[in-house]
Amino acid sequence: MLHRIILLFVSLVFLEQVSFADFTSSQIAKCTETTREEEDFEQLKKLRNRFTYIARSCKEIKDRYGEYEDGVYYLTTANGMLYQTYCDMTTAGGGWTLVASVHENSIYGRCTAGDRWSSQQGNNANLPDGDGNWSNRNTFGTVESATSDDFKNPGYYDITAEDMSVWHIPNNLPLEHWNQAAAAILRYHTENQFLTLYGGNLFQLFKQYPVRYKVGTCSDRGPAIPIVYDHGDAVSTKKLYGPNPRREFEPGFITFRAINWESAAMAICSGVKPTVGCNTEHYCIGGGGYFNPEEQCGDFPSFDYDRLGKEQGWSASKEMTEAAVLLFYR
Ligand code: G3P
Ligand code: CA
Ligand code: CA
Repeated sequence: MLHRIILLFVSLVFLEQVSFADFTSSQIAKCTETTREEEDFEQLKKLRNRFTYIARSCKEIKDRYGEYEDGVYYLTTANGMLYQTYCDMTTAGGGWTLVASVHENSIYGRCTAGDRWSSQQGNNANLPDGDGNWSNRNTFGTVESATSDDFKNPGYYDITAEDMSVWHIPNNLPLEHWNQAAAAILRYHTENQFLTLYGGNLFQLFKQYPVRYKVGTCSDRGPAIPIVYDHGDAVSTKKLYGPNPRREFEPGFITFRAINWESAAMAICSGVKPTVGCNTEHYCIGGGGYFNPEEQCGDFPSFDYDRLGKEQGWSASKEMTEAAVLLFYR
């Protein structure tokens, strides 16, 4: 009996030493690692399970499934095509669908590769619409690279929306940081449901107001819609553009299809409304296929007129020139 008791005691002491030794370093590390792996897996599972949602817009996802988290979701077009984009589920009630980003990859490239929102075929008066992407069903890019290159998804033409939201955020900013206030340069949204007057999206609006060389004169510009700021204000908006354009626009608006002195058309004047003069090439983005002089042709047409990245004369600020413009619908 005594022999058995001694044996049991020795075994217990041994076991305790083994377990104590085990859990001191490597086992604890392994345990933490396993927990992290499990957490990562659970997070991925949660994101992939969004695949089951059936909706044509982020607003529908929010309303139908009660999702209130910003991030990547799956959407389906009327024809049943599946695609992924970013949903802003928090700003001003949420439900905003990212449908496009306008990115300037090289201000020195004059309607060359990467100028998808003007022309990638050179400055050419025979191609007045340029690449025509403001009013066609072409799509390009992916959501995670929307601050590193142009992005256009089917939501651009498939979603029927009422309002728009616009974010200017630094080029190459990773998606997980997009919604951080510290990263924002300018953010605003409309709330007067203006899109209902123009077919419910930009695809339809730009059919009514083509972004086309020689489509009209400066006085034929499209609608200027009042905005509500989510980051920045009228004063900070003015400072993002050059001192000379500041005399020619009024902040607090988003304007569509501007036309300059030389009959070049631009798609969006972000944050402002042209009021006097017609030098919109220094502060409006996107365009048709021809600008005069040709140095102005490109996605951010002539943001560098008086030197790149220097807020002087007609040149826009470095911040603005090196930021992607994210376009949302709701
Ligand atoms: O867009 C500016 C250009 O048209 C003329 O500018 O200052 O040289 O008269 P400026
Ligand atoms: Ca581009
Ligand atoms: Ca000019």
